[in-house]
Amino acid sequence: MPPPLAATWALPLLLLVVRTPLPTGARPSPGPDYLRRGWLRLLAEGEGCAPCRSEECAAPRGCLAGRVLDACGCCWECANLEGQLCDLDPSAHFYGRCGEQLECRLDTGGDLSRGEVPEPLCVCRSQHPLCGSDGRTYSQICRLQEAALARPDANLTVVHPGPCESEPQIVLHPYDIWNVTGKDVIFGCEVFAYPMAAIEWRKDGLDIQLPGDDPHISVQFRGGPQRFEVTSWLQIQAVRPSDEGTYRCLARNALGQAEAPASLTVLTPDQLNSTGFPQLPAQHLVPEEEAESEEGEDYY
Ligand SMILES: *[C@@H]1O[C@H](CO)[C@@H](O)[C@H](O)[C@H]1NC(C)=O
Ligand SMILES: *[C@@H]1O[C@H](CO)[C@@H](O)[C@H](O)[C@H]1NC(C)=O
Ligand SMILES: *[C@@H]1O[C@H](CO)[C@@H](O)[C@H](O)[C@H]1NC(C)=O
Repeated sequence: MPPPLAATWALPLLLLVVRTPLPTGARPSPGPDYLRRGWLRLLAEGEGCAPCRSEECAAPRGCLAGRVLDACGCCWECANLEGQLCDLDPSAHFYGRCGEQLECRLDTGGDLSRGEVPEPLCVCRSQHPLCGSDGRTYSQICRLQEAALARPDANLTVVHPGPCESEPQIVLHPYDIWNVTGKDVIFGCEVFAYPMAAIEWRKDGLDIQLPGDDPHISVQFRGGPQRFEVTSWLQIQAVRPSDEGTYRCLARNALGQAEAPASLTVLTPDQLNSTGFPQLPAQHLVPEEEAESEEGEDYY
């Protein structure tokens, strides 16, 4: 038995120390509970496992990665979440076990050249998207499991692998634009859908799909920036007064369609002089850059 006095003053110190080694870049954890547990285990080391009296176990609550048995195989405790530290050595019991669908792996994602030490972290076994019974697409099984355990009464289950089918949703719509004759303008349109959407551009009053045969109009497509998204741009080079009007981004898949209009106003240099338009705030011309800055994990 360690002297009880030493143990009582050592514990708060250890709890202070233990807050620092949380891995950088990890998802926010519900608290350092699992690390505190590790230190408590260390303090109890040498005492061995007492005979199991399961009625004396504290019932773990709000375990978002499920429950696992403690080192003595007696009481249930919360399993560790994705991004939390874990014990690579299965016989060790410091950080604790990863939950269902998670495995303990050495994280080599950090900047090792800058002296960062690879840490063992819980990582989801599968990175495949799934459709939940709530109609939402989850990026992987561990996200769905967390949601299911957070709201047990919702009975959340996997409906099928792959994303939920969804009609097109215009995530970033084209903005109204004005400019002076001779300038180039670009409309952008970012669409989420599954199956993926087909995008087309039309101009009100014209019965053709752009660009038609007009050499100063071009249309571009690219996948992304998020999964199950397509982005398209309509470019009009050297705009003329006749280009004025309303342009529409139309997105379609087997489940439905969506559209977003935007207007183009073309001013001659004379009109520009008389209206004083340049005092207006700058407009969004290329939504592409702003869309790429958000690398979220949520699905629409
Ligand atoms: C979940 O399942 C339980 C029992 O099967 C049922 O009583 C409850 O209404 C269900 N909840 C939802 C939201 O479907
Ligand atoms: C007009 O177009 C040019 C590029 O062709 C762009 O640099 C400028 O910002 C645009 N002006 C306005 C008011 O959007
Ligand atoms: C615009 O106005 C300025 C003076 O206010 C004049 O010098 C310039 O030539 C004008 N530009 C055009 C294209 O009319």
